Amino acid sequence: MSDSPETQTSQAPEPTSRGRTPIRIFDTTLRDGEQSPGASLNHTEKMEIARQLEALGVDVIEAGFPITSQGDFEAVNAIGKELKRAIVTGLARCVPRDIDRAGEALKGANNPRIHVFCATSRIHREHKLKKAFEEIVHLSIDSVKRARQFVEDVEFSPEDGSRTELNYLVDVTAAVIEAGATTINIPDTVGYAVPEEYGHIFSYVREKLPQIDRDGIYLSAHCHDDLGLAVANSLAAVAGGARQVECTINGIGERAGNASLEEIIMALRTRADYYHQYETNIVTKKIYPTSRMVSNLTGLHIQRNKAIVGENAFAHEAGIHQDGMLKNRNTYEIMDPATIGVPESKLVLGKHSGRHALSDRVTELGYSLDVETLDKVYESFKALADKKKDVYDEDIEAILDEQLEQGRRLWELERFQVTSGTGVIATATVVLRDSSGEEKTDASTGDGPIDACYSAIQRITGVTVTLEDYQTRAVTGGKDAQGEVSVQVRHHDRKVRGRGLSTDVIEAAVKAYLAAINRIKTTEEREVDATTLNDDGVPPGKVAQP
Ligand code: KIV
Ligand code: ZN
Repeated sequence: MSDSPETQTSQAPEPTSRGRTPIRIFDTTLRDGEQSPGASLNHTEKMEIARQLEALGVDVIEAGFPITSQGDFEAVNAIGKELKRAIVTGLARCVPRDIDRAGEALKGANNPRIHVFCATSRIHREHKLKKAFEEIVHLSIDSVKRARQFVEDVEFSPEDGSRTELNYLVDVTAAVIEAGATTINIPDTVGYAVPEEYGHIFSYVREKLPQIDRDGIYLSAHCHDDLGLAVANSLAAVAGGARQVECTINGIGERAGNASLEEIIMALRTRADYYHQYETNIVTKKIYPTSRMVSNLTGLHIQRNKAIVGENAFAHEAGIHQDGMLKNRNTYEIMDPATIGVPESKLVLGKHSGRHALSDRVTELGYSLDVETLDKVYESFKALADKKKDVYDEDIEAILDEQLEQGRRLWELERFQVTSGTGVIATATVVLRDSSGEEKTDASTGDGPIDACYSAIQRITGVTVTLEDYQTRAVTGGKDAQGEVSVQVRHHDRKVRGRGLSTDVIEAAVKAYLAAINRIKTTEEREVDATTLNDDGVPPGKVAQP
């Protein structure tokens, strides 16, 4: 057995019934994760993910950054009111309007928290904020006090904490605790830290500030993966005394992403011989369905060799490994896939499966749909089962994704027709229906049938976008498999994705493009004009993301 990190003294909170130290899992998939290019989620999708995160056992859910958009405000508001167990938090800069907006969004929440942040490292002080350290401390104190007027639970993050001088980090931490912060998150904002160094920050701050342990203040880790060290750094922080870990499903997030929830949890569990004194509330069997849901709804595919949830994570190719596995699984397998909820056999539905069977499957996949949405999913399922003998989980997930993605449809595809072939100019006629029910038709030529359809759609909707990425895949195997097309388009400075599904690949491509355009239009409707709010030098209409 390895030496475990037991040198630290015990810190509040109280040990669990098994005498272990509870580690809070703070999930920021809906905030930092949603900052991944092209990953924007609509309201319905955010609600589905939030419900699943609570079922997974996440302790804190960062549901958005309310000042940045009406969509984020509404998500924090609705998630805060609906979830019963998890703490729900909204992010705010140390700017009064940000804090007030977060406070407003959390009105009526069952377990609200405001998370305020302000950069403290020299490079951010001098170049971004152009403020002296003392000024930043005052701003942070005022902001924490302001947030405390709305809620009792306030988290403070000294942004770029891992690159902040240690004595400054101690000073700002002491000051915000005095002002009322209950959790201090020390982020490795740019993914620069290495494990020993990052772990040391936590033990150092705890040693200098005995009030942390005495008063039950939580220290928290928040790591980015620029050097591929986010999970290792998070675990080092736990060994150093962090009692909250911030992470995302599938490790999605800004740039190279955040620490991945599933990797942290399975490291703690699989190496329980080493990490035996820690405990989390995560229900590991829900890891795999949650990972699939997040991947499906964000459109961010999981790399095949991704630890824990990648397609190849439990695949053994080498003959010598297969031989070992047959003799004893433990020779080459350190985790049982069943522990994370990988289904043992594929359940198949077909045209004789009823609404009840479908509804059960949908629930097992982690979705909790209202009756109206379930009806629409059932309709699509029946239509598919008429064309395709076996309907797999992947097919159902794709239908769910398409259904939830559409949200409020401003434009719907009525029908289309294309002519193309060798030596002929591709031509498309597209008929769309707008939200008032009126049909609009246009035709266009293009480099191929899809290009022609896309030009016709731009003409009808009046939305001009640049196609940046186009991917197509078969959802399952077999000749009758559904084709799924994912597109990423750029509209001004925003990247938006859309997905479409059909047994006809051109129809899937048209639906994907239309989904992206609908997403642009609905986001535009929800966006607040943030012109007067920008003190970070970002263009009007956008608030700087951390
Ligand atoms: O990476 C970061 O510093 C953040 C903060 C807002 C915690 O996301
Ligand atoms: Zn971050």
